[in-house]
Amino acid sequence: MFVLGLQGSPRIKGNTSTLLSAFLAQAEGLGARTHQVHVARQNISPCLECGTCEKEGFCPIDDDMQKIYPLLWQAAIIVMATPVFFYGPTAQMKAVIDRTQALWARRYVHKLADPGRKWRRGFLLSLGATRGKNLFDGVKLTAKYFFDAVGASFEGSLTYRQIEAQGDLARHPTALSDVKEQARTLVPPLLNRKKVLFACTENACRSQMASAFAQYLAGDRIEAESAGSSPAEEVHPLMEEVMGEKGIDMAFRKPKSLEEAGRCLGTPDLIITMGCGEVCPLFPGVPSQEWDLPDPSGESIAFMRQVGDDIEGRVDRCIHREL
Ligand SMILES: Cc1cc2nc3c(=O)[nH]c(=O)nc-3n(C[C@H](O)[C@H](O)[C@H](O)COP(=O)(O)O)c2cc1C
Repeated sequence: MFVLGLQGSPRIKGNTSTLLSAFLAQAEGLGARTHQVHVARQNISPCLECGTCEKEGFCPIDDDMQKIYPLLWQAAIIVMATPVFFYGPTAQMKAVIDRTQALWARRYVHKLADPGRKWRRGFLLSLGATRGKNLFDGVKLTAKYFFDAVGASFEGSLTYRQIEAQGDLARHPTALSDVKEQARTLVPPLLNRKKVLFACTENACRSQMASAFAQYLAGDRIEAESAGSSPAEEVHPLMEEVMGEKGIDMAFRKPKSLEEAGRCLGTPDLIITMGCGEVCPLFPGVPSQEWDLPDPSGESIAFMRQVGDDIEGRVDRCIHREL
């Protein structure tokens, strides 16, 4: 279970970083995998409003944002942390937010839903120097629309006034214990989902579809991953097309090795293999099911559709009988 923290202050060891680090340390202590991105250290251009994302569904600017898109969709929890600069987020954080217009376009123009959308959670941490009543209004409104664009429910915020000099936050009487408490509320429900690994050889078609259906249909109860014993370079374009016809967005997915999936998921509760005739060697003793599915790679789109429908039905039935 992956928690992504976006740290928006240019002060890498400033108050915002202290606050976010406390949240992430608690999440890690509970068993989550975490990653903090200091956005000011990334090379991220602001949105150029070129319109490519609305036409084609992706952002053509080749910079560090291309590494952040997949992280946003891998995350079960996204924490946006920013100081208030002129009643809004910092310019560096705002560049990230504006670039998620590409994800907004995939959802609202191209009508594709990423499978994490129904259960991904978003949380805001913010602080500022002054005491103004409306100090956090701008940041909260921006966060609301950012979380909608990236497909996360906005779960709430913790905000602190009169925090200015480096070290002020660490001296706050409750801030650090507040964020730890918040992590203890947000993390366990997503951490305690049943872990299911869908495995095949290339992790380009069948296991990708199966994990996406499981995430889409029951991601609040099941943490689904997929992997291959000999992963391909890319997922299969016909598979993406067929899933797109069902309204499911497969963007930013890469085939993974079994080891990589194990690092993401930990030891699975169940392994479902797709018909490659192999028992997963990495997790001995884990209960497994074998689905005898034909390999659709190299076949027609009609065949890919047929296999996709079959997988969707199987995942649905599995979910109904609690796997
Ligand atoms: C360019 C700039 C603009 C700021 N604007 C505001 C503001 O509008 N309201 C406010 O209360 N504090 C404002 N501050 C103060 C910061 O929010 C405050 O110093 C905060 O603690 C910085 O967080 P950090 O330590 O994580 O960098 C501003 C600071 C800077 C550098």
